[in-house]
Amino acid sequence: MDKYRVGIVGCGGIAHFHGQNYNRYPNDFEIVAAADVSQESVDKYCQEFEIPTAYTDYQKMLTDEHLDIVTVCTWQGTHAEITVAAAESGVKGILCEKPMAISLGQADAMIGACEKNKVKLVIGHQRRFEAIYPEARRLLADGVIGEPISVVRRVGSGLLNWGTHVIDMTRQILGDPSTSWVIGQVERKTDRYERRCRIEDLCMGLICFENDTRLILEIDMPKPHMNNILIQGSNGTMSSDGGKLKYLNGDSNGWQIVEPKSDGRDLWSEFKLWLDGDIDDHRCSGYQARGTVEIMMAIYESVRTRGLVHIPFQTPESPLELLIDNGMLPVETPGKYDIRVPF
Ligand SMILES: NC(=O)c1ccc[n+]([C@@H]2O[C@H](COP(=O)([O-])OP(=O)(O)OC[C@H]3O[C@@H](n4cnc5c(N)ncnc54)[C@H](O)[C@@H]3O)[C@@H](O)[C@H]2O)c1
Repeated sequence: MDKYRVGIVGCGGIAHFHGQNYNRYPNDFEIVAAADVSQESVDKYCQEFEIPTAYTDYQKMLTDEHLDIVTVCTWQGTHAEITVAAAESGVKGILCEKPMAISLGQADAMIGACEKNKVKLVIGHQRRFEAIYPEARRLLADGVIGEPISVVRRVGSGLLNWGTHVIDMTRQILGDPSTSWVIGQVERKTDRYERRCRIEDLCMGLICFENDTRLILEIDMPKPHMNNILIQGSNGTMSSDGGKLKYLNGDSNGWQIVEPKSDGRDLWSEFKLWLDGDIDDHRCSGYQARGTVEIMMAIYESVRTRGLVHIPFQTPESPLELLIDNGMLPVETPGKYDIRVPF
C-alpha cells in the first residue's frame, strides 16, 4: 500500500524523536506536514526533516493535508483538544505524546472521539518497548519470585511527567492488571508548573491492583531517588540493574542475572502493524494509557476526598486543579515557575 501520510503537531524536543523514528521506516511513513504555534519552530523543524509544508494552525493542516496519521507532540494540556480534532478530521491513526491527558474527562473524550471515528490511538509510553520490561513481565508471569507483593518506584520531575512512565511500566510488568484502589498525598506549596500545566511539588501514592500487588510510588519526595525497579515477591525479589534484571529466590543459589532481548519492534513499527490490521492491539494503546491516567488522577482525588479512592471513580475534572482552585493547596512561596518550559 501507499505510505501513511503523517502530520506532526508541536515541533519541539520530542517531535525530533518522532521525526527520526518515522524516518527509520521510509517505505511505510512520510511526514508531509508539520504545525506549531511558533513559526520559527515549525520552519526549523520542516527544514531539518525536509517536510514540504509548515503550518502555524494545526486545524488548517488537518483540513488541507488529507493525513492518515497525526502525531501530537505539544504540551499535555493540549493533547485532548488536538487528538479530538484529529480524530474528527478523518485520519486512521493518532500517536499522542504522554501523559495522555491531564484529566480523566479529557482521556475519555479522546477515546470517545477515536471510537466514534474508528481511529487507532497510541500514546507515547514508548518505554514499553525497552527489552527489560517485557522480560520482567515474562519472568513474573513464570513465577520466578512467587506472587508479586509490592513494587517500589521513586522518581522526580512530576507525577504527570515521569510518573506516567513509571506507572505505565509497572502496569506492564504486572501484566496490565486493573486497579482496585489508590490512596495518596500531595504537597503544593510553590506555584509549580510543568510544560505550562500546574503540578504538585511532591506526592506519593499507594496503588493496589486487582491481584493485590501494591505499587509504592514516590514522586519528587526527598532524595535519594531510585532509577531501578524493586519488586518483592512471595518467594523472592527482583530488581532492574542498568539494562539487566536480577532476581533471587529460594532455589536460585544467589542472584540470577538476566539480559533481556528485544522483540525487534518499536512504537512506530507496531503502530504500522496495527494500522495495517496485522495485529489486534498496540501495547501503548489509548485504553492502556487511560488506566495510567486513572491512577494519577486517583492520587489527587484521594487528597480531595481525604481517603481511599475505589476504582473506577467518576471525577472528569483534574482533582489537582479542583484542589488548587478551591484553595485547598495554598501557595506559601509565591512566584510561578515551570520546570520544563521556563515562563
Ligand atoms: N515519551 C517521552 O519519553 C517524552 C519525552 C519528552 C517529552 N514528552 C512529551 O512530549 C510533549 C511535548 O514535550 P516537549 O519536550 O517536546 O515540549 P517542547 O516545549 O520542546 O515542544 C512543544 C511544542 O509544542 C508547541 N505547541 C504548544 N501548544 C501548541 C498548539 N496548541 N498547537 C501547535 N503547537 C503547539 C510549542 O510551541 C512547542 O514548540 C509533552 O507532553 C511531554 O510530556 C514525552
